[in-house]
Amino acid sequence: MSDADNTDKPWAGRFTEPTDAFVEAFTASVGFDKRLYRHDIAGSIAHAKMLAHVGILTEKECAAIIEGLQEIALEIERGEFAWSTALEDVHMNIEARLTDRIGVTGKKLHTGRSRNDQVATDIRLYLREQIKLLAAEVERLQQGLLQLAEEEAGTVMPGFTHLQTAQPVTFGHHMLAWVEMLMRDQARFEDCYKRVNVMPLGAAALAGTTYPIDREFTARELGFDAIAENSLDAVSDRDFAIEFVAAASTLMMHLSRFSEELILWSSAQFDFVDLGDSFCTGSSIMPQKKNPDVPELVRGKTGRIYGHLMALLTLMKGQPLAYNKDNQEDKEPLFDTLDNLKGCLRLFADMMPQIGVKRDNMREAARRGFSTATDLADYLVRKGVAFRDAHEVVGKAVRYGVECGKDLSEMDLAELQQFSQVIEQDVFDVLTLEGSLAARNHIGGTAPQQVHAAIARARQRLSQFRLLQE
Ligand code: ARG
Repeated sequence: MSDADNTDKPWAGRFTEPTDAFVEAFTASVGFDKRLYRHDIAGSIAHAKMLAHVGILTEKECAAIIEGLQEIALEIERGEFAWSTALEDVHMNIEARLTDRIGVTGKKLHTGRSRNDQVATDIRLYLREQIKLLAAEVERLQQGLLQLAEEEAGTVMPGFTHLQTAQPVTFGHHMLAWVEMLMRDQARFEDCYKRVNVMPLGAAALAGTTYPIDREFTARELGFDAIAENSLDAVSDRDFAIEFVAAASTLMMHLSRFSEELILWSSAQFDFVDLGDSFCTGSSIMPQKKNPDVPELVRGKTGRIYGHLMALLTLMKGQPLAYNKDNQEDKEPLFDTLDNLKGCLRLFADMMPQIGVKRDNMREAARRGFSTATDLADYLVRKGVAFRDAHEVVGKAVRYGVECGKDLSEMDLAELQQFSQVIEQDVFDVLTLEGSLAARNHIGGTAPQQVHAAIARARQRLSQFRLLQE
């Protein structure tokens, strides 16, 4: 068989028989890696400039390549580019089109590089951009939470342990707990970004290249902070992607817990919040229903992102150095993680200003659950009672309250004194919900004053993330 059937493939020289049609379809990645086209072109332009800089290409050849690549980007954006499965991936599609457009000069672009360092560079450029977009969405969500925290800094709600009423907290304080989780997610992205923003280009197929390349030049052109030190590692490493998906999984875990609370709180049984009609759907059979679909779906999608993390870890575990075709399987899990995470964050950020807080219901729930019982015990301790005895006294008072349907703050002094003689009129300062909140007045505590101070600090800390500055 002549190689005529393979002539469109840049590697056809060594082959005498054409690729089996199903093998061609099976091994192609262009269907999903074409989304890297901008980054592929940016990498190629930087590479061409470097080749001209060291005298491998003439300035004229370099200019023709750059212009050709820029035209190709426009063709792709206009939807005019004919992607070919026979050309396997985004890299060979663009390179072949370049040669179509500018002739033999196009064939010089691949001097001193390989698709192995090319693809590793493209993914890093892409992920670098995406992490910044994600960080901005996380920040938008955090700002929404901070706004809510500010408006509800003094709003009482029951705090829970074991989902049983524990102690009163402010709704603002509860919102700030989410801000803290997201703050750590931001920090994980920021840290991961440092290892993403390292340039593999120049590693070529695996061992480096015989051409006098200038990797510092290319790295500067592409805005990389560092150059991969080892060529074998540079083409085969995907732990930057694993690390990113691990950070994404942790963020999804947080959004899933948050979702769970919103779902509970918007139920008729809790009735603490209203999620806003535009974020809920109805039932086709039960007219009364308003279902919290958005948080439910976010909770559901968390499993899929964990799945991608497992896929990537497993993808890497058996691979010998250096590049193996297995690595082509890194893209779909990574892309799907990014698409879904961006969607979830966008919805959550949009939802924050729509949340209606039902202050009266939360206050009533806090009142019903004897949430100031610990405050009464602490009061007795301040009057000289040992903590264990105080615990016992309050337990009896609660039992009495359950029997007669009264919260501790609704009992009069004589009723309370049945349980301990040290109780005086000043007990009512600590038994009210406001008294309980105001008493927890230290860094990290739930007092409204502390909530305001924590909001100011959180805003300051947020402004310090590098990813949010550039
Ligand atoms: N499509 C390939 C990938 O995603 C590009 C690199 C191919 N390199 C090779 N030697 N076959 O990994």
